[in-house]
Amino acid sequence: MTIESTLQDQQIDFDPRDFRNALGVFVTGVTVVTTLNTSGEPIGLTANSFSSVSLSPPLVLWSLSLRSPNLSNYLQATHFLVNILSDKQADISDRFARSNSNKFEGLDYKKSQQGLPQLNGISAYFECRTEARHYSGDHVIFIGQVINYQYNGSPTLVYSRGQYKILES
Ligand SMILES: Cc1cc2nc3c(=O)[nH]c(=O)nc-3n(C[C@H](O)[C@H](O)[C@H](O)COP(=O)(O)O)c2cc1C
Repeated sequence: MTIESTLQDQQIDFDPRDFRNALGVFVTGVTVVTTLNTSGEPIGLTANSFSSVSLSPPLVLWSLSLRSPNLSNYLQATHFLVNILSDKQADISDRFARSNSNKFEGLDYKKSQQGLPQLNGISAYFECRTEARHYSGDHVIFIGQVINYQYNGSPTLVYSRGQYKILES
């Protein structure tokens, strides 16, 4: 029996909280993925599922819960922008991790080349054209071709075991 068929045949029923805790052992950065909704208004959410995929062509990915109230907006968007948060932006991460229609209220940001929200004070950004969308389980994986990026020396915010951490340099 192959691993694939074993996985398919078994009823896998982990405790969701415990499975999440196990995944949280893997240390990540924190991003805010922004785009425009169908009315042209800025939207964004905190995501640590960001990962690099390919250098040539330059591809990255992130995944979005099917439960997101903005699912249809992210699905229709031709572009998205990944803001890599710096170590002073835990409050920004918290702000964008709450379902709220006015996440951008009172927030300073620039417009990228494609007119997407590029937050101030970030460590890096990757502006992407949506290359592919893959439905997988309870998330959609977005793969983006990077059309534009920038980075600086600001230390990045780190997320580990459900908590923000600051790297000692
Ligand atoms: C550190 C951190 C990482 C997160 N990563 C993701 C992610 O990769 N994908 C996702 O769909 N939600 C992720 N979330 C949860 C969303 O940010 C949260 O559900 C938010 O309310 C979604 O915004 P929305 O309701 O406007 O869609 C993360 C939350 C935190 C605090």
